[in-house]
Amino acid sequence: MSSGKITAAAIRAMKVRGEKIAALTACDFPMTKLLDEAGIPLILVGDSLGMVVLGYPDTTHVTMTEMEHHVRAAARAKPRALLGADLPYKSYGTPADAGENAKRLVAAGAEFVKAEGGREIIEPVRAIVSAGIPFCGHLGMLPQHVLEEGGYHVKGKKEAEHQALLEDAKALADAGAFAIVLELVTPPVAKEITARIPIPTIGIGSGDDCDGQILVTLDLVGLFPWFTPRFVKPRAACAAEIKSAVAEWKNSITVI
Ligand code: KIV
Repeated sequence: MSSGKITAAAIRAMKVRGEKIAALTACDFPMTKLLDEAGIPLILVGDSLGMVVLGYPDTTHVTMTEMEHHVRAAARAKPRALLGADLPYKSYGTPADAGENAKRLVAAGAEFVKAEGGREIIEPVRAIVSAGIPFCGHLGMLPQHVLEEGGYHVKGKKEAEHQALLEDAKALADAGAFAIVLELVTPPVAKEITARIPIPTIGIGSGDDCDGQILVTLDLVGLFPWFTPRFVKPRAACAAEIKSAVAEWKNSITVI
């Protein structure tokens, strides 16, 4: 990859070259800067920030105003990475809402937007793409549907689900998405989708055969120790480091 600013087209081209795409989430200035300095090419201000930063029980509570606030903070880092943002719950039900809210996130500093769903959101997706805003799909387990679905379930085990995922992925690619996140999709189905669509798949809990991988950074670095998804192997123990640094400092000022 060249040394300039990373675009959606550059991320797409990584699939063609067989280069794995490492993507992570960020929701503020320092984390965006750190991920960018570490060479991560795609950074997402994901609505998972609702849980890991704002303390909500799930992502359905996150608002457009909250997303704009975090996108602005991340964008101030001026990353070389492509910086995207999630359209939050119920912000893209119609093409008009999708277009308007995607433009708000772009005005806040997002360079692409992501939304959850397949053929059922194809008209909103077309509205976003025809406004010239790069769009990333999200299929499989859809966190914004957790309440209707009664939990976070793996998708693709049943044949009907497998076929629906494949059709949804093709529809999103045809509608102009530049990539698709596959969350908790069975690894064989994720592998098949990856082989059958021209745009990159970015997996989370969907096996090793996607074109890229994405994780919530706080899970990866052990900064949200109260819950770690089973597919995440934390590479650091930042929460423990913080507690021990704080305790050490506290002792240093309380010792007479
Ligand atoms: O909200 C989020 O952080 C996400 C990624 C983990 C894919 O959607």
